[in-house]
Amino acid sequence: MSDATRPMNDLSHEEIRDQVAKSYAKALTDSQGCCTPACCEPPAATAAKVAGYGDELAQHTEAGQSSFGCGNPLAFAEVQEGETVLDLGSGAGLDLLIAADKVGETGRVIGVDMTDEMIEAARANAAKAGHGQVEVRKGVIEALPVDDASVDWVISNCVVNLSPEKERVFAEIFRVLKPGGRFSVSDIVAEQLPESVRDFAAAYHACIAGAISETDYVEGLRAAGLEEVSSSERFEYEIEHLRGLVGADLDRAGASKEELDAVVAELEKVAGTVASVRLSGRKPA
Ligand SMILES: C[S@@+](CC[C@H](N)C(=O)[O-])C[C@H]1O[C@@H](n2cnc3c(N)ncnc32)[C@H](O)[C@@H]1O
Repeated sequence: MSDATRPMNDLSHEEIRDQVAKSYAKALTDSQGCCTPACCEPPAATAAKVAGYGDELAQHTEAGQSSFGCGNPLAFAEVQEGETVLDLGSGAGLDLLIAADKVGETGRVIGVDMTDEMIEAARANAAKAGHGQVEVRKGVIEALPVDDASVDWVISNCVVNLSPEKERVFAEIFRVLKPGGRFSVSDIVAEQLPESVRDFAAAYHACIAGAISETDYVEGLRAAGLEEVSSSERFEYEIEHLRGLVGADLDRAGASKEELDAVVAELEKVAGTVASVRLSGRKPA
């Protein structure tokens, strides 16, 4: 049984993170199968546009080709010159570069990711863009290698859904933000996924099976102490998007057509109840 078809419910948190890291290392090599609704429709730049990127893509084409986001967390974030931005699960670095453009040379941008291949790609993309203020650290978002109360902004793009320990992630967002600091997180949310989907590894890697509901997301962030929490920019995924996302992961894992058909039949039940949204708010001043 491959990682993509193995049930998730018998895995430890560490094993889930290992599987996710392997899946994204492979996805980066293939540069497909992202969490973006149109990622099954080439070219990749179209997918990133659907995720909400505009002119930023023309400036960062290479990082854009390796984007696995489901939104643009910096689209309406009022990031100012000189500020410090932290990106949870920074991947190949598109949002790091966009953040660096905003904070300028006097600001700082820190990316954290657990996948070596992603870290390497992000560092190379930052170097090519001449962004010396970007630093990429290896670590997990459940225990960030970042000081308490040290960043003005936390951003993230299609990553928290992949964490088996979301409460720890929300607590970490609170811990690392300066008082009054803000967050802008694009992510997938899902209502009432059947066990057959929740437990399916390829659907987990594709950012669907680990997703929680919009209400639980907002409440989880509030419970961590964050305030003014709200969600916006809802984009609902239809069956063709879901099939593209999960199918890409199964293809990479060498799953059979029967396995793919079986999961697509289950996914049909949840089409329209899976969406990408942007969650924003702040740490009390
Ligand atoms: C769907 S990709 C998104 C990448 C990037 N944010 C983007 O928009 O292109 C998920 C990324 O999060 C990283 N990731 C997933 N779970 C993580 C965790 N628990 N800790 C650290 N990184 C994680 C993966 O290695 C991968 O680079």
